[in-house]
Amino acid sequence: MKILLKVLVVGLFGISYLNAGLAPKVYPQGAVGEMVKLGEQIALHTDTHPLTKDFVGNKLNCASCHLKGEDEKPGTADGLTSWLDTATSFPAWSKREQSVQTLQDRSNNCFMRSMNGKRLVIDSKASIAIASYITWLSTGKPISMNAKGPWGPTNTKLWPKGIKHFKPIQKTATHANYVNGEKVYKTKCVMCHGQDGEGIAVFPPLWGKNAKGEWLSYNTGAGMSKLDKGAAYVKLKMPLNQGGTLSDKEAADVMLFINAQERADFDLAKGLLPKEEMGYYNSNVLKEKHTVRSNFKALGLNVDVIRGDKKIK
Ligand code: HEC
Ligand code: HEC
Repeated sequence: MKILLKVLVVGLFGISYLNAGLAPKVYPQGAVGEMVKLGEQIALHTDTHPLTKDFVGNKLNCASCHLKGEDEKPGTADGLTSWLDTATSFPAWSKREQSVQTLQDRSNNCFMRSMNGKRLVIDSKASIAIASYITWLSTGKPISMNAKGPWGPTNTKLWPKGIKHFKPIQKTATHANYVNGEKVYKTKCVMCHGQDGEGIAVFPPLWGKNAKGEWLSYNTGAGMSKLDKGAAYVKLKMPLNQGGTLSDKEAADVMLFINAQERADFDLAKGLLPKEEMGYYNSNVLKEKHTVRSNFKALGLNVDVIRGDKKIK
């Protein structure tokens, strides 16, 4: 009877905080809880938070892509870019860096690419806070370090067809697909993301610069700037709260249009602080560069032909 009761209690407790798609209901006690809360705030306000604003080179927050789930916590939405269970996969092998990456390293890669910014110092409060928040989202889940890639089980639990599904569609793209992508953008995205991809109020920017000449969105080294990954994200998540409503062709074409617009080039060296400040950089790959042009070329496409003009360098 005692054992049965114990099983029941553990079972109920388990359900209440291991519920898929939700953060735990309570923060850890004391200083750890404070660190988790700080990380949550940083994820929501990365571009303005005093601890991270100098490391962000655009107008995005982590939560601009790591969407909130039903509990309104950043990163708890399901599927591609989810942070649920992420910490269970780290340290993990990364082919890109040719090294075993920690959760802090992984987050820093989004700072350098998706946030068009700089790598945080690993010992900094901001880096520890973000890792604390993301680790908290894996509470109670078994550790299972990923020997294949730096990604977690919920992030990679995509809709059935997966990311690679888009490559064959996009490889055959012509100017007509770009024109169709622009049409999809103007009917299904423009009301939130703006006429020139500049974003409107709380709706984040997708490309370009502001009047001060500052870049607004992710750079060409970001996952989102890869045509297939971007299309997979949009198919799953956009328009906001209507994920899954675009056809594969609409998702592929709209991302072809968005990623053919102007955005910051990626140059790995620019994302690193001077060595005296940064300390050890956990990567065996020290050079990496991408442009809009090279991202299209990776799929055998010429961005001038796709756009029908030569506005992109
Ligand atoms: C422009 C969109 C974008 C922004 C902004 C962004 N990320 Fe990401 N992030 C991604 C994408 C896309 C992936 C998944 C890539 C993959 O799995 O190949 C990802 C993956 C991750 C992962 C690994 C998750 C997993 O389970 O595999 C972590 C950790 C992460 N990001 C942290 C951050 C942090 C911290 C910030 C804010 C400083 C941030 N990201 C901002 C797009 C973004
Ligand atoms: C109802 C408003 C709305 C519509 C319509 C909408 N989005 Fe979004 N989108 C958002 C919001 C809000 C976020 C960020 C989530 C957050 O801040 O909680 C976002 C995030 C994004 C992101 C990642 C962040 C960034 O700025 O790069 C991409 C890419 C994106 N949307 C593409 C699209 C595309 C493509 C369409 C049209 C098919 C679309 N969205 C339609 C509201 C919208």
